[in-house]
Amino acid sequence: MTASAGRIDLVADIGEVLVSEEQIAAKVTELGARIGADYGDRRLTLVSVLKGSLPFMADLMRAIPSPVRIDLMEVSSYGGTSTESSGLVRILKDLSATIEGEDVLIVEDIIDTGLTLNYLIRYLRGKNPKSLRICTLLDKPARRLVDIPVDYVGFTIPDQFVVGYGLDYGEYYRNLRFVGVLRPEVYTGLD
Ligand code: IMP
Ligand code: MG
Repeated sequence: MTASAGRIDLVADIGEVLVSEEQIAAKVTELGARIGADYGDRRLTLVSVLKGSLPFMADLMRAIPSPVRIDLMEVSSYGGTSTESSGLVRILKDLSATIEGEDVLIVEDIIDTGLTLNYLIRYLRGKNPKSLRICTLLDKPARRLVDIPVDYVGFTIPDQFVVGYGLDYGEYYRNLRFVGVLRPEVYTGLD
């Protein structure tokens, strides 16, 4: 069952604001400056994973002073549920340009088990970029199943299911300006 089956209330369904709009904006500025300091005037390709990373990508790219290009991939994990990823990944949209010999930075919304990113890293390494680093807005280390070397982390969060600023439950809540904890009663027993 998906969230679309019941009534969705963007205000009442949120139990707690975990990361506010202001905190996100300050962190994006900070990360952009750090990335700019690390890459300088080198060309950088940001690779983002749809759809959850869309707001973060849009904000982060404008905070990075280096010459950047962007590319977008879309993957879906199958065999999982709305709140659990399975690690089985299917590529729905591939890169539109080659990354061979390029400095590449993956821009992610959240790393949970790490299974999706683990797959993506192997896939992108196979395309022989000059370098491959990872930037994630949110990190949920409590649930990690594979070790992922993350270079830039926005916020480390506890093991709670969150929505907003791109993150969804059943494809909804992505348009919230903050990251909030979804009330468990919204999804408990529905998967
Ligand atoms: P992983 O493969 O378990 O690391 O999961 C990665 C993907 O699962 C993310 O890109 C999200 O789409 C989704 N995900 C993981 N945790 C959450 C959450 O708390 N809220 C919403 N989506 C999540
Ligand atoms: Mg999702």
